[in-house]
Amino acid sequence: METKVLKPTKENIRYCAELIKSGDVVGMPTETVYGLAANAYDESAVKKIFMAKKRPADNPLIVHIADIGMLKELTTSIPKIAITVCEKFWPGPLTVVLPKSDKIPLITSGGLDTVGIRLPSNKVARELIKECGLPLAAPSANLSGSPSPTTAEHVFDDLNGSIPAILDGGSCSIGVESTVISFENDIIRLLRPGRISVDDLKTVASDVIIDKGVLEIISNDAKVKSPGMKYKHYSPKADITLVDGSIEFFENYVSERNSIDTYALIFDDDNTSEDIKSIKYGNNSEQQAERIFAVLREADKIGAKRVFARCPSKDGIGLAVYNRMLRASGFKVVKEGD
Ligand code: TXA
Ligand code: MG
Repeated sequence: METKVLKPTKENIRYCAELIKSGDVVGMPTETVYGLAANAYDESAVKKIFMAKKRPADNPLIVHIADIGMLKELTTSIPKIAITVCEKFWPGPLTVVLPKSDKIPLITSGGLDTVGIRLPSNKVARELIKECGLPLAAPSANLSGSPSPTTAEHVFDDLNGSIPAILDGGSCSIGVESTVISFENDIIRLLRPGRISVDDLKTVASDVIIDKGVLEIISNDAKVKSPGMKYKHYSPKADITLVDGSIEFFENYVSERNSIDTYALIFDDDNTSEDIKSIKYGNNSEQQAERIFAVLREADKIGAKRVFARCPSKDGIGLAVYNRMLRASGFKVVKEGD
């Protein structure tokens, strides 16, 4: 199959909507990362997503909608706090986990009785959903286990030949996937950190609990609240170590282990010895979020075998960058003073 990369013209959006309505899958831009979209109600279409990505069947998909009114038919009950949260943060990078209605097949929800729902702000995504007139199941459009795609080219690199089309909406502005939350009365449980931060969520909830899976290793057989958290994610081929400390500590640590295919992943303003080859990934958390997945892909392209990464801040969207890097490194962190 030839994979077409299409500019998001009205005509191409209509063409992609036709593909989706006839049971196919399409790469679509969102403000966070690219998604691989199919009719959330169509079991055989959703199966194509799992096959193209080589995704484990117990990892549920997020269902994307174009207006808040579409929520009703996807869920059996919507707590008051969920309405407040959705009205405040939608459209945008937030996914809410709610009890699923029978309209959502179990293949879409990874066998769970809940469904993750998101109303994206990206214009192309919303036009595509509207044109389909259907909720679209869409995981990140990468091969399972590799870094999420933030450009149409990344999607093409991973899925060329196994999907019919990708809508090219340019680079994703946020760069890390949506914040995923569930509700326990007036309390919000953070299942995956993203652009909507813990502080943002605290403005609407009596408390925000950070689920264990955000910062700790979850074993592969464990029953977890968000199955995606138990898989080693976002892994480039290189072996990654997070180095948490000052630039002096970082430089010494890397110098002692430097070799021909070793790279340092550092902040734009960092200066390290000329002997250390480096890749830069921004100075603040927003820039780091936007670039993290692209630099992990770049590390592979240049043949990095070992990458030592300066640890990002854990505040705001920084927690999302830190969480993705923890996973990319398989939770290998070296701390100054340890
Ligand atoms: O920003 C995003 O969320 C992107 C774009 C395309 O919207 N999508 C995305 O999907 O990142 P995916 O499939 O790569 O990640 C979905 C995450 C997984 O960790 C999954 O386990 C969790 O959301 N999730 C989905 N449905 C869930 C549910 N019912 N209960 C708990 N976790 C759920
Ligand atoms: Mg993903």
